[in-house]
Amino acid sequence: MDSAAHGFAAQRPLSQPATTSNVSTNDNPPLSVVGIGTDIVECLRIAQMIERHGELFINRVYTPLEIRYCQSRKASTQHYAGRWAAKEAILKAIGTGWRRGISWRDVEVRNDSGGRPLVGMRGGARDAIEHLGIRQILVSISHCRSHATAYAIALGTEQKSNPGD
Ligand SMILES: CC(C)(COP(=O)(O)OP(=O)(O)OC[C@H]1O[C@@H](n2cnc3c(N)ncnc32)[C@H](O)[C@@H]1OP(=O)(O)O)[C@@H](O)C(=O)NCCC(=O)NCCS
Repeated sequence: MDSAAHGFAAQRPLSQPATTSNVSTNDNPPLSVVGIGTDIVECLRIAQMIERHGELFINRVYTPLEIRYCQSRKASTQHYAGRWAAKEAILKAIGTGWRRGISWRDVEVRNDSGGRPLVGMRGGARDAIEHLGIRQILVSISHCRSHATAYAIALGTEQKSNPGD
């Protein structure tokens, strides 16, 4: 299933610079860092939630594309845990936390052909980043048998209002 069909905002093409240059126009203002976030999760905790709640848990937290990706990997729990950490880190970078009608599946982590994780947003999460002037979110994920961790950076043009509002 194509993510674009599910309302996920496409991330800026990777060939375009994520950060500032001193040449800008009103249509393309320079981006700056407006938020950072990080998270760490025990893979065992995710494995237990999958074991206890099965598809209910998986379908509440992960998009079909994420599920397909994780299921296709040998150590699928680690990839599920990595996406859990990424979603938490991204919400911290945005600064809203899990509110404003944002659901887990509004934040999607997909991988480019080289494996690099990209962030897609839809629904309440997309509304929140647009409200806050956030134009791009970068994420990095790492995992081993015991833990998964992620780090996210939100880039935007301005802070339109307090993210806690
Ligand atoms: C990419 C690489 C560094 C990942 O490191 P690792 O120690 O094997 O695994 P980690 O647990 O730390 O990281 C795994 C995560 O790295 C991310 N990743 C994979 N390829 C990536 C890439 N090209 N760029 C950025 N991140 C990448 C993914 O998010 C992956 O998790 P996911 O599959 O659940 O999405 C490793 O696979 C590697 O060395 N590949 C060959 C060299 C390479 O392509 N380097 C590119 C980055 S400089």
